[in-house]
Amino acid sequence: MTSGANQMDSRVEEDYVIVLFGATGDLAKRKIIPGLFHLHEAGLLPERFRVIGSSPAAFAKTTEEFRAYAYESALSFGLARPEGEAWASFVDALSFVAADPDDYDNLVREVERAESELAPNSRRLFHLAIPPAAVLDMVAMLGSCGLNRNSRVIFEKPFGVDLESAETLNATIAAHFDESQVFRIDHFLGKESIDNILALRFANRLFEPLWNRDHVGFVQIDVPETLTIEGRGAFYEQTGAFRDMVVSHLFQVLGFIAMEQPTSFDARPLRDEVHKVFETLRPIQLEHVVRGQYEGYREERGVAPDSQTETFIALRAEVENTRWKGVPFYLRTGKALAQSRQVITIGFEEPVMRLFPLGPRAPRWRGNKIVVDFADPGSIHAHFLAKEPGPKMHVDAAQMSFHYQESFQAAHNLEAYEHLILEAMLGNQSLFTRSDGIERLWRVAAPLLESPPPVEPYAQGSWGPESMHRIVGSHGWALPEAGSRHRHGS
Ligand code: BG6
Repeated sequence: MTSGANQMDSRVEEDYVIVLFGATGDLAKRKIIPGLFHLHEAGLLPERFRVIGSSPAAFAKTTEEFRAYAYESALSFGLARPEGEAWASFVDALSFVAADPDDYDNLVREVERAESELAPNSRRLFHLAIPPAAVLDMVAMLGSCGLNRNSRVIFEKPFGVDLESAETLNATIAAHFDESQVFRIDHFLGKESIDNILALRFANRLFEPLWNRDHVGFVQIDVPETLTIEGRGAFYEQTGAFRDMVVSHLFQVLGFIAMEQPTSFDARPLRDEVHKVFETLRPIQLEHVVRGQYEGYREERGVAPDSQTETFIALRAEVENTRWKGVPFYLRTGKALAQSRQVITIGFEEPVMRLFPLGPRAPRWRGNKIVVDFADPGSIHAHFLAKEPGPKMHVDAAQMSFHYQESFQAAHNLEAYEHLILEAMLGNQSLFTRSDGIERLWRVAAPLLESPPPVEPYAQGSWGPESMHRIVGSHGWALPEAGSRHRHGS
Protein backbone atom coordinates (compact mmCIF):
# COMPACT_ATOMS: atom_id res chain seq x y z
CA MET A 1 0.00 0.00 0.00
CA THR A 2 1.62 3.36 0.70
CA SER A 3 5.34 3.16 1.38
CA GLY A 4 8.82 3.15 -0.06
CA ALA A 5 9.10 3.16 -3.82
CA ASN A 6 5.37 3.54 -4.38
CA GLN A 7 5.24 6.64 -2.17
CA MET A 8 5.19 9.18 -4.98
CA ASP A 9 2.47 7.31 -6.90
CA SER A 10 0.30 7.95 -3.88
CA ARG A 11 0.36 11.72 -4.00
CA VAL A 12 -3.11 13.25 -4.16
CA GLU A 13 -3.39 15.14 -7.45
CA GLU A 14 -6.73 16.90 -7.04
CA ASP A 15 -6.95 20.11 -5.04
CA TYR A 16 -8.87 19.61 -1.81
CA VAL A 17 -10.84 21.51 0.79
CA ILE A 18 -10.71 19.39 3.93
CA VAL A 19 -13.31 20.18 6.57
CA LEU A 20 -12.52 18.70 9.93
CA PHE A 21 -15.62 18.54 12.14
CA GLY A 22 -14.77 18.03 15.80
CA ALA A 23 -11.53 19.93 15.20
CA THR A 24 -11.15 20.79 18.90
CA GLY A 25 -11.71 17.20 20.05
CA ASP A 26 -9.28 14.55 21.21
CA LEU A 27 -9.08 12.56 17.97
CA ALA A 28 -8.38 15.65 15.89
CA LYS A 29 -5.69 16.73 18.33
CA ARG A 30 -3.94 13.38 18.65
CA LYS A 31 -4.32 11.89 15.20
CA ILE A 32 -5.94 13.90 12.45
CA ILE A 33 -4.19 17.28 12.62
CA PRO A 34 -0.70 15.80 13.13
CA GLY A 35 -1.53 13.21 10.47
CA LEU A 36 -2.54 15.80 7.88
CA PHE A 37 0.64 17.71 8.55
CA HIS A 38 2.78 14.58 8.19
CA LEU A 39 1.10 13.81 4.86
CA HIS A 40 1.86 17.35 3.71
CA GLU A 41 5.43 17.18 4.92
CA ALA A 42 5.90 13.84 3.12
CA GLY A 43 4.70 15.45 -0.12
CA LEU A 44 1.54 13.35 -0.30
CA LEU A 45 -1.11 16.05 -0.03
CA PRO A 46 -1.89 17.96 -3.22
CA GLU A 47 0.07 21.09 -3.98
CA ARG A 48 -2.99 23.20 -3.15
CA PHE A 49 -5.33 22.37 -0.30
CA ARG A 50 -7.19 24.10 2.53
CA VAL A 51 -8.07 22.69 5.95
CA ILE A 52 -11.10 24.20 7.67
CA GLY A 53 -11.40 23.28 11.33
CA SER A 54 -14.95 23.34 12.63
CA SER A 55 -16.81 22.78 15.87
CA PRO A 56 -20.14 23.75 17.42
CA ALA A 57 -20.25 27.45 18.34
CA ALA A 58 -19.77 26.58 22.02
CA PHE A 59 -16.22 25.30 21.32
CA ALA A 60 -15.29 27.70 18.53
CA LYS A 61 -11.79 29.09 18.05
CA THR A 62 -10.50 31.92 15.90
CA THR A 63 -8.29 30.97 12.97
CA GLU A 64 -5.27 32.22 14.90
CA GLU A 65 -6.17 30.12 17.93
CA PHE A 66 -6.73 27.10 15.72
CA ARG A 67 -3.32 27.54 14.09
CA ALA A 68 -1.65 27.67 17.51
CA TYR A 69 -3.64 24.61 18.59
CA ALA A 70 -2.58 22.74 15.43
CA TYR A 71 1.05 23.59 16.18
CA GLU A 72 0.78 22.19 19.71
CA SER A 73 -0.95 19.07 18.48
CA ALA A 74 1.63 18.38 15.74
CA LEU A 75 4.44 19.02 18.20
CA SER A 76 3.04 16.73 20.89
CA PHE A 77 1.64 13.90 18.80
CA GLY A 78 3.03 14.04 15.26
CA LEU A 79 5.62 12.00 13.37
CA ALA A 80 6.77 15.22 11.62
CA ARG A 81 8.07 18.23 13.54
CA PRO A 82 6.12 21.43 12.84
CA GLU A 83 8.93 23.58 11.49
CA GLY A 84 10.42 25.08 8.35
CA GLU A 85 8.76 25.66 5.00
CA ALA A 86 6.52 22.60 5.34
CA TRP A 87 4.95 23.95 8.51
CA ALA A 88 4.70 27.52 7.19
CA SER A 89 2.76 26.39 4.10
CA PHE A 90 0.58 24.02 6.15
CA VAL A 91 -0.38 26.58 8.76
CA ASP A 92 -1.19 29.03 6.02
CA ALA A 93 -3.81 26.61 4.69
CA LEU A 94 -5.66 26.38 8.05
CA SER A 95 -8.77 28.32 9.04
CA PHE A 96 -11.57 27.83 11.53
CA VAL A 97 -15.31 28.33 11.41
CA ALA A 98 -18.08 27.35 13.84
CA ALA A 99 -20.98 25.30 12.48
CA ASP A 100 -24.10 23.79 13.98
CA PRO A 101 -26.65 21.65 12.15
CA ASP A 102 -29.10 24.60 12.19
CA ASP A 103 -26.53 27.33 11.61
CA TYR A 104 -24.15 26.53 8.78
CA ASP A 105 -24.14 29.64 6.55
CA ASN A 106 -20.65 30.63 7.69
CA LEU A 107 -19.38 27.14 6.95
CA VAL A 108 -20.77 27.20 3.42
CA ARG A 109 -19.22 30.63 2.85
CA GLU A 110 -15.86 29.48 4.20
CA VAL A 111 -15.84 26.37 1.98
CA GLU A 112 -16.66 28.57 -1.05
CA ARG A 113 -13.96 31.06 -0.11
CA ALA A 114 -11.40 28.25 0.25
CA GLU A 115 -12.48 26.76 -3.07
CA SER A 116 -12.04 30.10 -4.82
CA GLU A 117 -8.31 29.81 -4.02
CA LEU A 118 -8.02 26.36 -5.61
CA ALA A 119 -8.45 24.81 -9.06
CA PRO A 120 -12.05 25.04 -10.36
CA ASN A 121 -12.94 21.38 -9.77
CA SER A 122 -11.39 20.90 -6.38
CA ARG A 123 -12.85 18.20 -4.18
CA ARG A 124 -14.22 18.34 -0.64
CA LEU A 125 -13.29 15.96 2.15
CA PHE A 126 -15.38 15.97 5.32
CA HIS A 127 -13.93 14.21 8.33
CA LEU A 128 -16.58 13.66 11.00
CA ALA A 129 -14.60 13.32 14.21
CA ILE A 130 -17.72 14.04 16.27
CA PRO A 131 -19.77 12.19 18.90
CA PRO A 132 -22.10 9.49 17.49
CA ALA A 133 -25.17 11.43 18.66
CA ALA A 134 -24.23 14.35 16.39
CA VAL A 135 -23.61 12.36 13.20
CA LEU A 136 -27.14 12.03 11.80
CA ASP A 137 -27.81 15.79 11.97
CA MET A 138 -24.44 16.58 10.48
CA VAL A 139 -24.99 14.26 7.52
CA ALA A 140 -28.42 15.78 6.90
CA MET A 141 -26.93 19.26 7.13
CA LEU A 142 -24.23 18.47 4.55
CA GLY A 143 -26.95 17.17 2.24
CA SER A 144 -29.37 20.04 2.68
CA CYS A 145 -26.80 22.79 2.06
CA GLY A 146 -25.37 21.02 -0.97
CA LEU A 147 -21.88 20.59 0.45
CA ASN A 148 -22.16 16.85 -0.25
CA ARG A 149 -21.51 17.50 -3.96
CA ASN A 150 -18.12 16.46 -5.30
CA SER A 151 -17.09 15.31 -1.86
CA ARG A 152 -15.81 12.37 0.12
CA VAL A 153 -16.70 11.82 3.73
CA ILE A 154 -14.86 9.99 6.48
CA PHE A 155 -16.86 8.51 9.35
CA GLU A 156 -15.47 7.41 12.67
CA LYS A 157 -16.68 4.40 14.63
CA PRO A 158 -18.97 3.43 16.24
CA PHE A 159 -21.16 2.67 13.24
CA GLY A 160 -24.23 2.24 15.39
CA VAL A 161 -24.52 0.30 18.62
CA ASP A 162 -26.68 -2.51 17.24
CA LEU A 163 -28.32 -3.57 13.99
CA GLU A 164 -31.19 -1.11 14.19
CA SER A 165 -29.04 1.96 14.84
CA ALA A 166 -26.56 0.88 12.15
CA GLU A 167 -29.39 0.56 9.64
CA THR A 168 -30.67 4.02 10.53
CA LEU A 169 -27.20 5.49 10.20
CA ASN A 170 -26.56 3.77 6.86
CA ALA A 171 -29.95 4.88 5.52
CA THR A 172 -29.30 8.50 6.51
CA ILE A 173 -25.87 8.42 4.90
CA ALA A 174 -27.31 6.81 1.75
CA ALA A 175 -29.93 9.57 1.50
CA HIS A 176 -27.21 12.20 1.09
CA PHE A 177 -24.11 10.42 -0.21
CA ASP A 178 -23.42 7.76 -2.77
CA GLU A 179 -21.65 4.75 -1.15
CA SER A 180 -18.60 5.52 -3.35
CA GLN A 181 -18.20 8.78 -1.39
CA VAL A 182 -18.26 7.08 2.02
CA PHE A 183 -15.17 6.04 3.99
CA ARG A 184 -15.81 4.35 7.37
CA ILE A 185 -12.53 4.29 9.25
CA ASP A 186 -11.38 1.28 11.20
CA HIS A 187 -7.86 2.33 12.00
CA PHE A 188 -6.66 -1.26 12.51
CA LEU A 189 -7.01 -1.67 8.73
CA GLY A 190 -4.53 1.17 8.26
CA LYS A 191 -1.80 -0.60 10.22
CA GLU A 192 1.09 -1.83 8.07
CA SER A 193 1.11 -5.24 9.73
CA ILE A 194 -2.58 -5.81 9.10
CA ASP A 195 -2.26 -4.90 5.42
CA ASN A 196 0.76 -7.15 5.38
CA ILE A 197 -1.45 -10.15 6.19
CA LEU A 198 -2.61 -9.89 2.59
CA ALA A 199 0.99 -9.86 1.35
CA LEU A 200 1.99 -12.70 3.65
CA ARG A 201 -0.81 -14.84 2.35
CA PHE A 202 -1.17 -13.91 -1.29
CA ALA A 203 2.30 -12.74 -2.36
CA ASN A 204 3.92 -15.95 -1.10
CA ARG A 205 3.46 -19.62 -1.71
CA LEU A 206 5.00 -20.52 1.63
CA PHE A 207 2.04 -20.02 3.94
CA GLU A 208 -1.17 -20.02 1.94
CA PRO A 209 -1.29 -23.76 1.14
CA LEU A 210 -1.40 -24.43 4.90
CA TRP A 211 -3.88 -21.66 5.67
CA ASN A 212 -6.96 -23.81 6.18
CA ARG A 213 -8.72 -26.33 8.40
CA ASP A 214 -6.51 -29.23 7.23
CA HIS A 215 -3.51 -27.69 8.99
CA VAL A 216 -4.62 -24.85 11.24
CA GLY A 217 -5.91 -25.91 14.65
CA PHE A 218 -6.90 -22.47 15.92
CA VAL A 219 -6.49 -18.74 15.37
CA GLN A 220 -6.13 -16.18 18.15
CA ILE A 221 -6.52 -12.43 17.84
CA ASP A 222 -5.41 -11.00 21.13
CA VAL A 223 -5.37 -7.28 22.00
CA PRO A 224 -4.83 -6.80 25.73
CA GLU A 225 -4.25 -3.22 26.90
CA THR A 226 -2.68 -1.95 30.11
CA LEU A 227 -4.68 1.29 29.94
CA THR A 228 -7.76 1.67 32.07
CA ILE A 229 -10.64 3.66 30.62
CA GLU A 230 -8.93 6.78 32.01
CA GLY A 231 -11.61 9.41 32.24
CA ARG A 232 -13.65 8.04 29.32
CA GLY A 233 -16.23 6.54 31.74
CA ALA A 234 -19.33 8.14 30.26
CA PHE A 235 -18.39 7.03 26.72
CA TYR A 236 -17.29 3.58 27.80
CA GLU A 237 -20.46 2.86 29.75
CA GLN A 238 -22.38 3.08 26.44
CA THR A 239 -19.85 0.98 24.59
CA GLY A 240 -17.88 -1.67 26.46
CA ALA A 241 -15.02 -3.80 25.16
CA PHE A 242 -17.14 -5.80 22.75
CA ARG A 243 -18.51 -2.85 20.77
CA ASP A 244 -15.37 -0.74 21.17
CA MET A 245 -12.88 -3.35 20.05
CA VAL A 246 -14.41 -6.59 18.78
CA VAL A 247 -17.10 -5.33 16.41
CA SER A 248 -14.89 -2.50 15.23
CA HIS A 249 -11.40 -3.90 15.07
CA LEU A 250 -11.00 -7.59 15.85
CA PHE A 251 -13.68 -8.79 13.43
CA GLN A 252 -12.07 -6.74 10.67
CA VAL A 253 -8.73 -8.37 11.36
CA LEU A 254 -10.46 -11.74 11.32
CA GLY A 255 -11.84 -10.82 7.90
CA PHE A 256 -8.31 -10.39 6.49
CA ILE A 257 -7.08 -13.61 8.07
CA ALA A 258 -9.98 -15.73 6.89
CA MET A 259 -10.80 -14.30 3.44
CA GLU A 260 -10.27 -16.07 0.14
CA GLN A 261 -7.89 -14.53 -2.37
CA PRO A 262 -9.67 -11.64 -4.09
CA THR A 263 -9.47 -11.36 -7.89
CA SER A 264 -7.58 -8.09 -7.33
CA PHE A 265 -6.90 -5.67 -4.51
CA ASP A 266 -9.35 -3.12 -5.79
CA ALA A 267 -11.98 -2.10 -3.32
CA ARG A 268 -14.87 -4.11 -4.71
CA PRO A 269 -13.28 -7.57 -4.97
CA LEU A 270 -11.33 -7.11 -1.74
CA ARG A 271 -14.34 -6.02 0.28
CA ASP A 272 -16.51 -8.68 -1.35
CA GLU A 273 -14.19 -11.37 0.01
CA VAL A 274 -14.16 -9.84 3.51
CA HIS A 275 -17.91 -9.65 3.34
CA LYS A 276 -18.20 -13.35 2.50
CA VAL A 277 -16.29 -14.12 5.69
CA PHE A 278 -18.73 -12.00 7.70
CA GLU A 279 -21.63 -13.78 6.00
CA THR A 280 -20.26 -17.13 7.14
CA LEU A 281 -19.51 -16.00 10.70
CA ARG A 282 -21.78 -17.90 13.01
CA PRO A 283 -23.88 -15.73 15.35
CA ILE A 284 -22.08 -15.59 18.68
CA GLN A 285 -22.90 -18.41 21.05
CA LEU A 286 -23.19 -17.32 24.66
CA GLU A 287 -21.45 -20.40 26.04
CA HIS A 288 -18.34 -19.27 24.14
CA VAL A 289 -18.17 -15.82 25.74
CA VAL A 290 -16.56 -14.53 28.94
CA ARG A 291 -17.15 -10.92 29.92
CA GLY A 292 -15.04 -9.30 32.62
CA GLN A 293 -14.82 -6.02 34.46
CA TYR A 294 -11.68 -4.78 36.20
CA GLU A 295 -11.84 -4.15 39.90
CA GLY A 296 -12.21 -0.43 40.51
CA TYR A 297 -14.02 0.26 37.23
CA ARG A 298 -17.26 1.09 39.04
CA GLU A 299 -15.49 3.81 41.03
CA GLU A 300 -14.38 5.63 37.85
CA ARG A 301 -16.05 8.95 37.03
CA GLY A 302 -19.14 8.55 34.86
CA VAL A 303 -19.55 4.83 35.66
CA ALA A 304 -22.69 3.44 37.35
CA PRO A 305 -22.03 1.86 40.79
CA ASP A 306 -23.72 -1.34 39.59
CA SER A 307 -22.41 -1.17 36.02
CA GLN A 308 -22.58 -4.35 33.95
CA THR A 309 -20.39 -2.91 31.18
CA GLU A 310 -17.54 -5.25 30.24
CA THR A 311 -13.98 -3.96 30.17
CA PHE A 312 -12.78 -7.40 29.03
CA ILE A 313 -14.12 -9.94 26.60
CA ALA A 314 -12.93 -13.30 25.37
CA LEU A 315 -14.93 -15.25 22.86
CA ARG A 316 -14.78 -17.99 20.32
CA ALA A 317 -15.95 -17.12 16.83
CA GLU A 318 -16.58 -19.62 14.07
CA VAL A 319 -16.34 -19.20 10.32
CA GLU A 320 -18.58 -21.75 8.71
CA ASN A 321 -17.15 -22.32 5.26
CA THR A 322 -15.14 -25.08 3.61
CA ARG A 323 -11.82 -23.46 4.47
CA TRP A 324 -12.45 -22.89 8.17
CA LYS A 325 -15.27 -25.10 9.41
CA GLY A 326 -14.34 -26.41 12.87
CA VAL A 327 -11.37 -24.05 13.42
CA PRO A 328 -11.98 -21.83 16.44
CA PHE A 329 -11.10 -18.15 16.16
CA TYR A 330 -10.39 -16.97 19.70
CA LEU A 331 -10.74 -13.22 20.24
CA ARG A 332 -9.67 -11.48 23.43
CA THR A 333 -9.29 -7.86 24.46
CA GLY A 334 -9.59 -5.80 27.60
CA LYS A 335 -8.45 -2.83 29.62
CA ALA A 336 -6.20 -2.77 32.70
CA LEU A 337 -4.53 -6.04 31.71
CA ALA A 338 -0.96 -7.22 32.27
CA GLN A 339 0.46 -6.19 28.89
CA SER A 340 -0.37 -4.00 25.90
CA ARG A 341 -0.07 -6.27 22.88
CA GLN A 342 -1.64 -6.74 19.45
CA VAL A 343 -0.97 -10.30 18.42
CA ILE A 344 -2.40 -12.80 15.94
CA THR A 345 -1.44 -16.43 16.45
CA ILE A 346 -2.09 -19.04 13.79
CA GLY A 347 -1.72 -22.37 15.61
CA PHE A 348 -0.96 -25.40 13.43
CA GLU A 349 -1.84 -28.99 14.20
CA GLU A 350 1.00 -31.18 15.46
CA PRO A 351 2.44 -33.84 13.13
CA VAL A 352 0.53 -37.11 13.38
CA MET A 353 3.49 -38.90 14.98
CA ARG A 354 5.75 -37.40 17.63
CA LEU A 355 9.06 -39.11 16.85
CA PHE A 356 11.55 -37.00 18.77
CA PRO A 357 11.95 -36.31 22.46
CA LEU A 358 11.32 -32.63 23.29
CA GLY A 359 14.01 -30.45 24.85
CA PRO A 360 13.59 -28.17 27.86
CA ARG A 361 12.56 -25.13 25.82
CA ALA A 362 9.53 -26.89 24.40
CA PRO A 363 7.82 -28.41 27.45
CA ARG A 364 4.42 -27.03 26.43
CA TRP A 365 4.92 -27.52 22.69
CA ARG A 366 1.57 -27.58 20.97
CA GLY A 367 2.52 -27.35 17.30
CA ASN A 368 3.95 -24.76 14.94
CA LYS A 369 2.75 -21.20 15.13
CA ILE A 370 2.88 -18.16 12.97
CA VAL A 371 2.72 -15.12 15.20
CA VAL A 372 1.97 -11.70 13.76
CA ASP A 373 2.74 -8.95 16.24
CA PHE A 374 0.87 -6.06 14.68
CA ALA A 375 1.60 -3.35 17.21
CA ASP A 376 3.71 -0.80 15.32
CA PRO A 377 6.34 -1.29 13.99
CA GLY A 378 5.31 -4.95 13.73
CA SER A 379 6.96 -8.33 13.35
CA ILE A 380 6.23 -11.91 12.27
CA HIS A 381 7.60 -15.05 13.89
CA ALA A 382 7.45 -18.68 12.79
CA HIS A 383 7.75 -21.10 15.71
CA PHE A 384 9.07 -24.54 14.88
CA LEU A 385 11.12 -27.40 16.30
CA ALA A 386 14.80 -27.82 15.45
CA LYS A 387 17.34 -30.44 16.35
CA GLU A 388 19.40 -29.55 19.37
CA PRO A 389 23.14 -29.67 18.59
CA GLY A 390 24.67 -32.88 19.94
CA PRO A 391 24.72 -36.59 19.35
CA LYS A 392 21.10 -37.22 20.34
CA MET A 393 18.08 -36.58 18.14
CA HIS A 394 16.40 -34.17 20.55
CA VAL A 395 14.32 -31.30 19.25
CA ASP A 396 13.69 -27.97 20.89
CA ALA A 397 11.72 -24.79 20.24
CA ALA A 398 13.19 -22.43 17.61
CA GLN A 399 12.00 -19.27 15.89
CA MET A 400 12.42 -17.41 12.61
CA SER A 401 11.60 -13.73 12.83
CA PHE A 402 10.96 -10.79 10.56
CA HIS A 403 11.01 -7.29 12.08
CA TYR A 404 9.70 -4.39 10.05
CA GLN A 405 12.08 -2.00 11.72
CA GLU A 406 15.16 -3.98 10.75
CA SER A 407 14.03 -4.89 7.27
CA PHE A 408 12.57 -1.80 5.64
CA GLN A 409 13.18 1.92 5.68
CA ALA A 410 11.17 3.35 8.52
CA ALA A 411 11.34 6.83 6.94
CA HIS A 412 8.38 6.00 4.74
CA ASN A 413 6.17 4.94 7.62
CA LEU A 414 2.68 6.31 7.74
CA GLU A 415 0.72 6.00 10.92
CA ALA A 416 -2.57 4.07 10.48
CA TYR A 417 -4.73 7.19 10.46
CA GLU A 418 -2.52 8.98 7.98
CA HIS A 419 -2.56 6.01 5.66
CA LEU A 420 -6.36 5.88 5.74
CA ILE A 421 -6.90 9.63 5.28
CA LEU A 422 -4.61 9.44 2.25
CA GLU A 423 -6.49 6.46 0.80
CA ALA A 424 -9.79 8.31 1.29
CA MET A 425 -8.46 11.36 -0.54
CA LEU A 426 -7.32 9.09 -3.37
CA GLY A 427 -10.82 7.60 -3.47
CA ASN A 428 -9.62 4.07 -2.69
CA GLN A 429 -12.13 2.30 -0.45
CA SER A 430 -10.20 -1.00 -0.12
CA LEU A 431 -9.31 -0.48 3.53
CA PHE A 432 -12.67 0.89 4.66
CA THR A 433 -15.63 -1.00 6.02
CA ARG A 434 -18.80 -1.33 4.02
CA SER A 435 -22.37 -0.74 5.17
CA ASP A 436 -23.52 -4.31 4.49
CA GLY A 437 -20.49 -5.66 6.36
CA ILE A 438 -21.25 -3.54 9.40
CA GLU A 439 -24.86 -4.64 9.42
CA ARG A 440 -23.88 -8.29 9.12
CA LEU A 441 -21.53 -7.94 12.12
CA TRP A 442 -24.33 -6.51 14.22
CA ARG A 443 -26.43 -9.55 13.25
CA VAL A 444 -23.59 -11.83 14.35
CA ALA A 445 -23.40 -9.86 17.61
CA ALA A 446 -27.15 -9.88 18.30
CA PRO A 447 -27.31 -12.92 20.67
CA LEU A 448 -24.64 -11.37 22.89
CA LEU A 449 -26.20 -7.91 22.88
CA GLU A 450 -29.61 -9.39 23.73
CA SER A 451 -28.50 -11.59 26.65
CA PRO A 452 -25.00 -10.66 27.78
CA PRO A 453 -23.62 -13.05 30.42
CA PRO A 454 -22.86 -11.31 33.74
CA VAL A 455 -19.48 -9.59 34.03
CA GLU A 456 -16.85 -11.36 36.13
CA PRO A 457 -14.41 -9.24 38.15
CA TYR A 458 -10.65 -9.37 37.51
CA ALA A 459 -7.69 -7.72 39.17
CA GLN A 460 -6.02 -4.83 37.38
CA GLY A 461 -2.73 -5.97 35.89
CA SER A 462 -3.95 -9.57 35.47
CA TRP A 463 -4.89 -11.30 32.19
CA GLY A 464 -8.63 -11.24 32.93
CA PRO A 465 -11.10 -13.47 34.78
CA GLU A 466 -9.97 -17.07 35.34
CA SER A 467 -12.86 -18.46 33.34
CA MET A 468 -11.34 -17.10 30.12
CA HIS A 469 -9.29 -20.30 30.04
CA ARG A 470 -12.39 -22.33 29.36
CA ILE A 471 -12.85 -20.48 26.05
CA VAL A 472 -9.63 -21.89 24.60
CA GLY A 473 -9.53 -25.23 26.44
CA SER A 474 -6.40 -27.27 25.68
CA HIS A 475 -5.20 -24.83 23.01
CA GLY A 476 -4.35 -22.39 25.79
CA TRP A 477 -3.90 -18.65 25.27
CA ALA A 478 -0.73 -17.91 23.34
CA LEU A 479 -0.13 -14.82 25.52
CA PRO A 480 1.72 -14.36 27.72
CA GLU A 481 4.48 -16.27 25.96
CA ALA A 482 6.04 -18.99 28.08
CA GLY A 483 9.06 -17.55 29.83
CA SER A 484 8.23 -13.93 29.01
CA ARG A 485 9.39 -12.03 32.03
CA HIS A 486 9.17 -8.46 30.76
CA ARG A 487 6.03 -6.40 30.78
CA HIS A 488 5.10 -4.60 27.60
CA GLY A 489 3.92 -1.09 28.38
CA SER A 490 1.48 0.74 26.15
C1 BG6 B 1 -9.72 2.55 19.74
C2 BG6 B 1 -10.49 2.17 20.97
O1 BG6 B 1 -10.53 2.46 18.61
O2 BG6 B 1 -8.60 1.71 19.60
C3 BG6 B 1 -9.60 2.23 22.19
O3 BG6 B 1 -11.62 3.04 21.14
C4 BG6 B 1 -8.34 1.42 21.97
O4 BG6 B 1 -10.30 1.80 23.34
C5 BG6 B 1 -7.67 1.80 20.66
O5 BG6 B 1 -7.45 1.66 23.05
C6 BG6 B 1 -6.47 0.91 20.35
O6 BG6 B 1 -5.88 1.34 19.17
P1 BG6 B 1 -4.32 1.52 18.89
O7 BG6 B 1 -4.17 2.88 18.32
O8 BG6 B 1 -3.60 1.28 20.15
O9 BG6 B 1 -4.03 0.51 17.86
